[in-house]
Amino acid sequence: MAVARLSKLHGTHEAEFGMIVSDRYQGQGLGTRLLDCLLTVGRQEHLDHISAEILCENRAMQRVCEKVGFQLHRTSEADVLKAAIVL
Ligand SMILES: CC(C)(COP(=O)(O)OP(=O)(O)OC[C@H]1O[C@@H](n2cnc3c(N)ncnc32)[C@H](O)[C@@H]1OP(=O)(O)O)[C@@H](O)C(=O)NCCC(=O)NCCS
Repeated sequence: MAVARLSKLHGTHEAEFGMIVSDRYQGQGLGTRLLDCLLTVGRQEHLDHISAEILCENRAMQRVCEKVGFQLHRTSEADVLKAAIVL
């Protein structure tokens, strides 16, 4: 149905996330709830930051990130944004 993963960067208090929701379950709030759960886990694990790189064309992922409080930043790659949140 869906998978969300938080990967802690060795020796830091930072993690990167990845997420996928099956096509038939998209648009029902599942991605937003899963990303919110990852933020809760990150706080429990005393992380400082969580981030992910997102293609500029991936408007759904950008929207989900914005809904739970991530900031979106440009990167050196024209077609890639970085979503980041301070916990
Ligand atoms: C990105 C993804 C995880 C979102 O999951 P989801 O369960 O559909 O997310 P939600 O239903 O919680 O929210 C989706 C939001 O994006 C919006 N959205 C969807 N398509 C959009 C588009 N083309 N443009 C703008 N907003 C869009 C929806 O309207 C919704 O926002 P709203 O609640 O304000 O209406 C899912 O689309 C997915 O698995 N995509 C493929 C994998 C991927 O891109 N992973 C991310 C890599 S880091």
